[in-house]
Amino acid sequence: MVATPVLRVLRLSKTFPGQRALVDVDIDVEPGEVRALVGQNGCGKSTLIKILAGFHEPDAGSQVTVVDRPLAFGDPTSSDAAGLRFVHQDLGLVATLDTVDNLALGHGYETGRLGLIRWRQERAGARSAVRDLGYDFDISRPVGALAASERTAVAVARALSRHATPPRVLVLDEPTANLPAAEAQRLFALVRSVRDAGVAVIFVSHHLDEVFGLCDTVSVLRDGALVTTRPTAGLDEADLVELMIGRKLAQYDVPPAEAAHQGEVALDVRTLETTALRGVDLTVHSGEVVGVAGLTGSGREELALALFGGCPRAGVVAVAGKAVPQLRPDLAMRSGMGLVPAERHANAAFLDADLQENVVVASPTAFSRRGLLRRGSERSDVARWLDRLNVAPAGAERAMSTLSGGNQQKVVLARWLRREPRVLVLDEPTQGVDIGAKAEIHALVDRAAADGAAVVVVSTDHDELARLCGRVLVLAGGRVVDELHRADLHADRITAAAVGHTLRSAS
Ligand SMILES: Nc1ncnc2c1ncn2[C@@H]1O[C@H](COP(=O)(O)OP(=O)(O)OP(=O)(O)O)[C@@H](O)[C@H]1O
Ligand SMILES: [Mg+2]
Repeated sequence: MVATPVLRVLRLSKTFPGQRALVDVDIDVEPGEVRALVGQNGCGKSTLIKILAGFHEPDAGSQVTVVDRPLAFGDPTSSDAAGLRFVHQDLGLVATLDTVDNLALGHGYETGRLGLIRWRQERAGARSAVRDLGYDFDISRPVGALAASERTAVAVARALSRHATPPRVLVLDEPTANLPAAEAQRLFALVRSVRDAGVAVIFVSHHLDEVFGLCDTVSVLRDGALVTTRPTAGLDEADLVELMIGRKLAQYDVPPAEAAHQGEVALDVRTLETTALRGVDLTVHSGEVVGVAGLTGSGREELALALFGGCPRAGVVAVAGKAVPQLRPDLAMRSGMGLVPAERHANAAFLDADLQENVVVASPTAFSRRGLLRRGSERSDVARWLDRLNVAPAGAERAMSTLSGGNQQKVVLARWLRREPRVLVLDEPTQGVDIGAKAEIHALVDRAAADGAAVVVVSTDHDELARLCGRVLVLAGGRVVDELHRADLHADRITAAAVGHTLRSAS
């Protein structure tokens, strides 16, 4: 018996000014099905989701039904009433509000007689909602002060918390981009229990192991069109990649040869302390790529920002032998340090500005001569960098807000790679970036190191660390508890070290 689809998307199209984001997409999802939605950066995944959520209106002729009832477009309330629930890319939380208020944004406050808000119930509800997800943090802190994974938990809790109507379809747009593997596993357990309750799940990710591990079926988008929908069971990763990008991905991602040269000490860090770090020493030579791994709460999340002077610190951070004072990102930049922070929306992307401005903001005077800005050369230089990173659609005059998440990330990378920093600090550099673009970014990091940069890569993606680094430091409890060298650099090994079960090498 073929089940009736809970969600039916028919001939869905969306045209932005000068940009066709979706073209005649047909998708059916059944109750209790976990459907992956995959494709390269900019292929239309978030646009489809935002239409379902009522943020965007599709082109005329598009149709969406939820249990055979047509969905009213452009109206978030109707989407919610139909039982569609969302965890959006970049989460959509209000950073200055606490967990209780952010949850209430989803379902409204619980009120008693006289319409007074029942704060005690609200707080208890919020606490148990995050506890159900396996988290235990202070729900009265502004969510902007929480760890990235805790914020993800708030967004998931909000999607699943009590609404006027029961959930029918839970849509998760790259929920794991900010999650270390162990926490992603917790989220998957939750997704499975939601599915077991008969709710359909749509899951977007660039991590194909998650697609195969979690999803029953997969829909592939390419350039706004549906390529295919299939069971994941009959597919392997190479097939799926080929469906996504339209060719094989064999020649990509060749790890670098052993670091060709290692120059002077470019970055020297002594007894670095912050709220989360308890005395970290770190020395990085010019030409070297050093990774940093650690679970949430290990201090990993604070390291990059602390190096750059973005949060209070004690200890010494010296670039090329010269100490840089704390809380002075301007002086860190002048010393030759660059930072690509995690979570571009909070920390790095100027959404209202165009791409040109987003790139040159880190080096406003690079192209001035005798005080005059040479706009022509600057423009062509920025264009070259955007092109090198394959930012799509092309055009430095586009507003950052009109780019897909992965393409925004590439713009932020272009900003710092272009400066050719002496010390390059990357925090989750390929967050939200698709498989092909990731390989290109890795090659650019190799190149920056070969050109003499000292690179620090903080990442929860242990394959990425194994691919990029000559050495990986493992943090736990704010200290360096392990250091793995090239021969030991495998993702599993890094993960084992981070969770505290260091495997002895066989030899
Ligand atoms: N508000 C907008 N105005 C104009 N163009 C837009 C807007 N939002 C998205 N686009 C364009 O629509 C296309 C699809 O973008 P979308 O965000 O849906 O991609 P995506 O598949 O979610 O990519 P990613 O994996 O990078 O998140 C892109 O070309 C993007 O530049
Ligand atoms: Mg997206």
